[in-house]
Amino acid sequence: MQYGRNCWLDMRKLPDGFKLGVATAAYQIEGGWNAADKAPSMWDNFCHKPSKIADNTTGDDACKSYEYYKRDIEMLKFLSVDFYRFSISWPRILPTSFPNKISEAGLTYYNNIINELLVNNIEPVITLYHWDLPQNLQDLGGWANPLIVDWFEDYARTMYQLFGDRVKTWITINEPKQIAIYGYGLPRLAPGINSHGIGDYLAVKHVVMAHARAWHVYDKEFRAKQKGICGITIALDYREGMTDSPSDMQAGKDAMDFEVGLYSHPIFSTKGGFPDSVVRIVGEKSAAQGFFRSRLPEFTPEEIEYVKGTSDFFGFNHYSSRFYSREKFEKGMYPVPSYDDDIGAYYSYMDYEKSAVIHVTVVPQGIRKALNWVKDTCNNPPIMITENGFATYGGLDDEKRIMYYNKYLNATLDAIDIDNCNVISYTAWSLMDNFEWGFGLRIKFGLFEVDYEDDFRTRKPRNSAFWYKKLIATRAIEQDYKTEFKEISF
Ligand code: NOJ
Repeated sequence: MQYGRNCWLDMRKLPDGFKLGVATAAYQIEGGWNAADKAPSMWDNFCHKPSKIADNTTGDDACKSYEYYKRDIEMLKFLSVDFYRFSISWPRILPTSFPNKISEAGLTYYNNIINELLVNNIEPVITLYHWDLPQNLQDLGGWANPLIVDWFEDYARTMYQLFGDRVKTWITINEPKQIAIYGYGLPRLAPGINSHGIGDYLAVKHVVMAHARAWHVYDKEFRAKQKGICGITIALDYREGMTDSPSDMQAGKDAMDFEVGLYSHPIFSTKGGFPDSVVRIVGEKSAAQGFFRSRLPEFTPEEIEYVKGTSDFFGFNHYSSRFYSREKFEKGMYPVPSYDDDIGAYYSYMDYEKSAVIHVTVVPQGIRKALNWVKDTCNNPPIMITENGFATYGGLDDEKRIMYYNKYLNATLDAIDIDNCNVISYTAWSLMDNFEWGFGLRIKFGLFEVDYEDDFRTRKPRNSAFWYKKLIATRAIEQDYKTEFKEISF
């Protein structure tokens, strides 16, 4: 296919029925951290401790969407998205964490959003868990406690009961790796438990089990009546060998098994359970380190069967690619034991073009490889791209973000048109600037800029918002692009 500037014939059509949307997450946008009867989440507590967040900001107020959600919906209307992916704050809707008490204020808030979306013909796509665990459950061990599977079941069932008459797409859990490895193995994300090589693997198993439980509840108790779909979103940043030496190539493959396979293999593969490579590597290292059992917990045969097939789609978050080398791996590079030591490779983003955060280094061909990896290792499931986006330090003129979207979408279309990957939707991260976890408010992912100095948190469309609006209107993408820029605020 040939491309040329502003020539319709050279435009590349999106597949028929392909859906386009944008995403946010509760803690990153809502604010109102202690409004009404909301209980604290582990992110509230984490951010209230000194020196946890790079720019010392918190999500206490964030975009104030708890107050100003109507403006968010105006922005969605402006873009004309097919769907809006957002998450529910567990401690806002269930202030005790359990279904014995449903917050009236929380219920009204989420009902308002859902109803307003539907009136405007925008499909609500709800993530049940986007990292803001109730602090009282974290006090009991959080994702390191196997009982979380029961707690999550009760929460999920309650959400299906409250909203499932109107919500038809459910994402149980967002990015299990980040929850487990960065929250329980490294102090990078809340709850900041530094139990590397041990606590992280406990959380890995319980996140997978909790997801499966929530899916089974939907499948058995709600699907027939509500007729929706339910699945998990996994971070699928691509990992590959730094060189084509056999040992580097193997390091890339092993890294995919650790980074993605730990979550996708139990759910999507025919065999089920954790990937053999990871079971073997962690088992051998644990034995050599003097442990009496593997640091990676096992699934029982019943659990393997229970988890298999528990996702109606593959929720796919993708930002970048990382390159691995076993040849450059040296003893002492990582603590022992640890997840990184178990992978046993040096890694880098190499010298690809950078964004404001390292994990969004621009490697467009990586999304095509990642989509193919899912097709080949996960039984070719329908793939919903649930996040993709670019980070800056701000400014309405965000040509680099447009370039990023354009290149990643072209690579996605290669995966669809040439490789037959079954991609059914695409979600831009994010609707607007928001609280970027450990980086704070300074890092901007928004199609819309949010003015944090302003009490009303005025939102303004960036050039990329106009570009995305045009993409949604035309359902076609160009290699070269032209944007018009207008002054509007919400
Ligand atoms: C993935 C996470 O789901 C989202 O919350 C985060 O803001 C983006 N990555 C960007 O880092």
